[in-house]
Amino acid sequence: MAAGNETVTKLLATAFYWLAEFPGERQALIDEPGLAAGAVEEFLRFDPPSHYQARTLTRPVSLHGIEMPKGARVAIINGASGRDPRQFEEPDRLDVRREIDLHLGFGFGRHVCLGASLARLESRIALVEFLARFPAYEVTGVERMHSSNVRGLSGLTLQY
Ligand code: HEM
Repeated sequence: MAAGNETVTKLLATAFYWLAEFPGERQALIDEPGLAAGAVEEFLRFDPPSHYQARTLTRPVSLHGIEMPKGARVAIINGASGRDPRQFEEPDRLDVRREIDLHLGFGFGRHVCLGASLARLESRIALVEFLARFPAYEVTGVERMHSSNVRGLSGLTLQY
């Protein structure tokens, strides 16, 4: 329940917040609802609800000149990878038309999100249906949530 509920609701509130900050992207989605599936990937890259994962190394690993021994506890900041300029052009620009080969918003490898398909479906439908009903919404209040493992908003007040 927690994995499937909190993450999708966080992603959606974050998406509506950023679409207010980037009105051109909001208009693109209103004009072309077919962009919504790609937009969901862009939100997962730009401001994902699950920012870091923890692992215990089963073998020594060397990355970027840093040696990490077997047994080391490692925090993988997958959220930061979405803003890596080596991977994404102009990473701080929200672009609902961006073509994304891979982002780490759902994790990667053996423990990749089990609910990714459902999350993509729910988020796409919510984006399209919300924007069809309330295209000109305004954000009137934002409250950020403080949590050890999920990033997002505890409150987003909209006016229409
Ligand atoms: C936007 C929504 C979602 C995001 C951002 C998200 C993110 C993630 C991430 C990053 C992981 C990897 C954790 C790790 O590597 O340790 C994960 C795993 C998982 N997610 Fe999601 N998730 C979302 C929605 C869902 C939904 C809708 C479900 C179920 C209905 C779900 C169920 C799970 C489960 C069961 C795992 C554990 C998989 C495993 O360890 O093998 N998630 N999720």
